[in-house]
Amino acid sequence: MNAVAEVNNAPEAPRGGILSELQGPVPRDTFREQGAFLYLDRFLPEDVTASLIAGTRAVEGAVNRNYLPGHKQGGSVSRHKIDELAPAIAELYRSPVLIRWLETLCGESLQPSPENDPHAYALYFYTKPGDHIGWHYDTSYYEGRRYTLLLGVLDESSCFLEYRLHTRETGVPIVEDAVQIPPGGMVFFDGDKLHHRITPLRANEQRVSLTFEYVTNPHMRPWQRFISNMKDAVAYFGFRQVFRQMLGKRTSSA
Ligand SMILES: [Fe+2]
Repeated sequence: MNAVAEVNNAPEAPRGGILSELQGPVPRDTFREQGAFLYLDRFLPEDVTASLIAGTRAVEGAVNRNYLPGHKQGGSVSRHKIDELAPAIAELYRSPVLIRWLETLCGESLQPSPENDPHAYALYFYTKPGDHIGWHYDTSYYEGRRYTLLLGVLDESSCFLEYRLHTRETGVPIVEDAVQIPPGGMVFFDGDKLHHRITPLRANEQRVSLTFEYVTNPHMRPWQRFISNMKDAVAYFGFRQVFRQMLGKRTSSA
């Protein structure tokens, strides 16, 4: 029996750290039947959600806003700024309890994204009317698969995550649906399989979500890394956050 199967049969014992246990069975069949997709409106313990909300407030001054006509509008904070300003979020990302639960769900060994990936864990701020992201896949530039865990942090909005299942499978009807992710709720999916978008924010609304990206093979060819970095710089975090290691410490206080 491998480690993943063992976890499914035996609840995690408390280990300390930010996340000591996750309650309830792991819905592996639902995940598989939905084409590597799962939504849970309740997932994280309340104290962990509270620490995420506190982390969100800590990074508000570091939000990088982007507007790409026809594709997205909103604010983002990369893992580099989270490391500086909200280390509890980084701790949750590396939580063994969380990673083993997700491994049990998808049936694969997962690894954190490499240190130089600004998207490994990131916060997304929808704070101005029209903030949204259009239809897309969370394409993996890695040699293996990339899974996205999307966690609800704050949601005082009418935004929906709209999604389409089975779009790249043959002989399986496409299923369309939409969900709102309350604080402590989650969505987990294979980024190359789920076609999805976030609908536009309306006036006097706000929404903050957190994404964790895990990979099955952390290797990325140099050209793919360049493309991935350019996309992240233009569409999400800005060149300073994405290329901070190349630019040196001058960017850390920017
Ligand atoms: Fe996405």
